[in-house]
Amino acid sequence: MTETQKTAKLSLNGQDYELPIFSPTAGPDVLDIRKLYAQAGVFTYDPGFTSTASCDSTITFIDGGKGELLHRGYPIDQLASQSHYLEVCYLLLYGELPTATQLEDFEARVTRHTMVHEQMHNFFRGFRRDAHPMATLVGVVGAMSAFYHDSTDIADPWQREVASIRLIAKLPTIAAMAYKYSIGQPFVYPKNDLDYAANFLHMCFSVPAEDYNVNPILSRAMDRIFTLHADHEQNASTSTVRLASSSGANPFACIAAGIACLWGPAHGGANQACLEMLKEIGSVDRIPEFIARAKDKDDPFRLMGFGHRVYKNTDPRATVLKQSADEVLELLGVEDNPLLQVAKELEQTALNDPYFKEKKLFPNVDFYSGIILEAMGFPTSMFTPIFALSRTVGWISQWKEMIADPQNKIGRPRQLYLGQTARNYVDIENR
Ligand code: ACO
Repeated sequence: MTETQKTAKLSLNGQDYELPIFSPTAGPDVLDIRKLYAQAGVFTYDPGFTSTASCDSTITFIDGGKGELLHRGYPIDQLASQSHYLEVCYLLLYGELPTATQLEDFEARVTRHTMVHEQMHNFFRGFRRDAHPMATLVGVVGAMSAFYHDSTDIADPWQREVASIRLIAKLPTIAAMAYKYSIGQPFVYPKNDLDYAANFLHMCFSVPAEDYNVNPILSRAMDRIFTLHADHEQNASTSTVRLASSSGANPFACIAAGIACLWGPAHGGANQACLEMLKEIGSVDRIPEFIARAKDKDDPFRLMGFGHRVYKNTDPRATVLKQSADEVLELLGVEDNPLLQVAKELEQTALNDPYFKEKKLFPNVDFYSGIILEAMGFPTSMFTPIFALSRTVGWISQWKEMIADPQNKIGRPRQLYLGQTARNYVDIENR
């Protein structure tokens, strides 16, 4: 971040204030208002943070207009087609692509941490059978601070590193256990001769009674879903992790907070909501009715899996996943599945509809990830846990960056208070 010679001038109550301007390496200039309240006695108002940079970061850059997503400068389409998830994890965590030795060492460290503490099995059994896997995930990840207390001292760089590796390694195991528990099947231990994505599929779909061979096309598609969800700048869940962490909370508690935020249907829950919407539509002939509802100002219904706060042209992750969706559907021979027919027809209808064109609403990553996961055999309730396990590395990278920043201070937004001014308490008999 470089402070430019440029300043912005704010005139307020007959007085001028100079606001320094920072120039980022990419993206719009940023006005520095940190001293505004001290100097001018005013706050700024920006609910939803539509114009506010909450931190500086070197990890991920998005140009919503161009539909560009860069991790440490590398375009997401190159990473999705030429790299793989664990290499992208290394890149996000440490800032550079690894050498062959660094990658081998990193993969070995992650792989050695895939098992969870055996007592966690008992902890799982305390949940109701029908608990949503996201509910289980929030609870179990939060409880990791009890099971792995030796990596909760955030002032110790070694403990931060161990916690990071533990989270990346164990999240697939925990997500798969949440799934197995919800369907009444035994937990499946990780198999460390499989790669990260194949291991996850194995833990979700194998049973002790039968052999299970992971199809390489499916594990490649799974790896791509992980890669495409790895990080996404200062979105709601990442900002939640940063805010939770600003108080000095331990990493497991912070990631659990991120998972809780991700669960919402406007964020990571959109992939589940999207598939549920496709099921509700049910058949191609009902699409016009739902398109009409999405356009109706008096109807709160929105087309799930469409639109994005930042991307206003195309979601580059969706472009890659659309291709994966075609490959997976062809491999599984399910192109005729009625749900997928509805998805394809809905996509085309919305893309050609003036309302969606004008408002720059197009399918986002959740639209295609839901279709692929459905075809792979995952229930909709597992869609958001899969997003959560993929995003864990992004949350951790942002968390590590924040802890290492000497300017890090507790997050404490201001407010525009519109309530009552001070008034005297009234006894109950006089109200
Ligand atoms: N269907 C119908 N209309 C929509 C949709 C949609 N999916 N999304 C936005 N609009 C309309 C809004 O009604 C609004 O119309 P108006 O200008 O007439 O009031 C306009 O488009 C702008 O919408 P906002 O809500 O202001 O846009 P915002 O940037 O705040 O919202 C969001 C982005 C939350 C993603 C929104 O598009 C949405 O709700 N989409 C559906 C949920 C979804 O798919 N979420 C996944 C996001 S990607 C992710 O988390 C990985």
